[in-house]
Amino acid sequence: MTRSARRLLVLLAGLPALQTWCGWARLPRRLGRLSRSSLEGLEGLEGLEDLEGLEDLESQLERSLEELKHLETPEEARERYATVLEVEEKHRKGTARHFATPIYRSALSVDAASLAALNEEVLEATAQLRERDAAGRAWCQENYPGGFTSFGSARQLHKEWKALADLKRMLKAHLRAFLQEGNMPGVPPLESLHMTECWVNVMGEEATHGFHTHDYANISGTYYVQTPPGCSGLRFEDPRVDRTAQLDQRLVLEYPVRAGDVILFPSWLRHEVPPSGPAVRESERVSVSFNFAGR
Ligand SMILES: *[C@@H]1O[C@H](CO)[C@@H](O)[C@H](O)[C@H]1NC(C)=O
Repeated sequence: MTRSARRLLVLLAGLPALQTWCGWARLPRRLGRLSRSSLEGLEGLEGLEDLEGLEDLESQLERSLEELKHLETPEEARERYATVLEVEEKHRKGTARHFATPIYRSALSVDAASLAALNEEVLEATAQLRERDAAGRAWCQENYPGGFTSFGSARQLHKEWKALADLKRMLKAHLRAFLQEGNMPGVPPLESLHMTECWVNVMGEEATHGFHTHDYANISGTYYVQTPPGCSGLRFEDPRVDRTAQLDQRLVLEYPVRAGDVILFPSWLRHEVPPSGPAVRESERVSVSFNFAGR
């Protein structure tokens, strides 16, 4: 075995100890990748002597280890934590759920006639906007193929359309319930939360919206205006980092959507809308999305 092969093995042998010390999440990504690929590379080799690129790999590993020295220790990191939550006395025995992720769904609480009028108005205003908003349509061709969203061109529709100013008012009770039930430490109270953005989305057969979060907001949500039977739902990704780091263990939760329903969730939660396919060939899937942030 050559000298460099031996040194490489020593470095690889040291990885589990490093992992224990700082946890996979804190290991520089590059090092994680390197150790995986070098382990794969080592498997099934008879002799390591003529392993190509060994010197390269070794110096990369050494550089990564050097980077590691400058990482903060868990103790240092802990000092920066903003919020420490105390476990309540009642959880002295048995299993409690911690770090749960609240998601809210409810029918908008208005009578059927008002609901129908609201949806009708939004549909009509959306069709008109789509017609005259050439810049928006161009934006969608790039960013939202198969659909129309005013996200790129008109994101303050609650200030322009009466129907959406009404919707904003109707959402208040739901927001209140979500804040009460959701237990979201650090989210501003109802009094200081206000709608910062509000836009419409029309999704045809091919339209899709990949996993994303909403920046500069605390609570995000969608109100459904038109949901043809069989159209796609709203998907949320399991946010527990150590699970989601492994793609094959990632859990995704799909909420079916129904016209008249509102769904609220924390803005940091990754979500997506997969394509609906032929279900929306005749009539499209239409929704209003919005953000609430503290004043
Ligand atoms: C609330 O939103 C602001 C940005 O608007 C952000 O700085 C803050 O971290 C958010 N708080 C929570 C608890 O999500």
